[in-house]
Amino acid sequence: MSAVTKAVIPVAGLGTRFLPVTKATPKEMLPIVDKPAIQYVVEEAVAAGLNDVLLVTGRAKRAVEDHFDENSELENALAQKGNQQMLDAVRGPVELANIHYVRQGVPRGLGHAVACAKQHVGDEPFAVLLGDDLIDDRDYVLPKMISVREKHGGSVVLLMPVPESEVHLYGCAAVRPTDDPQVVEIDDLIEKPAKGTAPSNLAVIGRYVLDPSVFQVLDATAPGQGGEVQLTDALRVLTKTDAIKGGGVRGVLFDGRRYDTGDKLSYLKAVVRLAAGRSDLGPEFREWLKSFTDSQEFSSPKN
Ligand code: G1P
Repeated sequence: MSAVTKAVIPVAGLGTRFLPVTKATPKEMLPIVDKPAIQYVVEEAVAAGLNDVLLVTGRAKRAVEDHFDENSELENALAQKGNQQMLDAVRGPVELANIHYVRQGVPRGLGHAVACAKQHVGDEPFAVLLGDDLIDDRDYVLPKMISVREKHGGSVVLLMPVPESEVHLYGCAAVRPTDDPQVVEIDDLIEKPAKGTAPSNLAVIGRYVLDPSVFQVLDATAPGQGGEVQLTDALRVLTKTDAIKGGGVRGVLFDGRRYDTGDKLSYLKAVVRLAAGRSDLGPEFREWLKSFTDSQEFSSPKN
């Protein structure tokens, strides 16, 4: 069975929830302290040994490409000033991985974005990482997901229990336990179930290790929830169809630190949590944060 060596990261979304900042800036470039969100995700893929990274981009995503490209003018200026620390920060994303790009001309949904990776990926299993979910580097889980794929074949998704009031925001799984307490068999998957109809409180978090048979299924997947081609719908077919080579979907249960950067409130929480945990900024920031929350300053907000 082939090893997992490639990561696919869709970055073609419109970022509607963050307008107006996403009018001219891709949402993947929003800073989480001093790095854009996308860099954390590429770093996670590389830490799992996936040096071949395909970014599925769209219109107005040039800043993402520039971020992972050389900037000799800036590098020369920093070198002349002898600013090695900033030079390393600027070189970091360039040297991180072998990054490739494919364009998703029309944003037709996550399933369609993954289908755009077909030619690059070929007939190998591959990982998909979604930029809105940041996994804390102390709790990286992709290696475990890859080992489940290597042991059982098929596809693997990451699952996390969420409050019942939030399940309708995610893909949701019906599961059965296995011998490994961290791994479940998936019997069914539903994209954004209507309130009260979710089969469990286990939500699909944006990490997947997929069998290449998913491409064949995606080709035949009609638009679903929100009029978009949903990856969850294709995976649902793979949970049901033994006839398809590479079928079968398992879930890895996650209880680590995960930061949702997909909407304004959770984005703010992610920035605060990561800044508070940094060794350079954390001590001073935590002290300020405490005195700020203890003060009355925020009780009369201005826009
Ligand atoms: C996507 C997937 C959904 C998954 C979620 C995780 O939804 O379609 O199944 O639970 O990512 O973040 P989106 O958040 O793009 O609407």
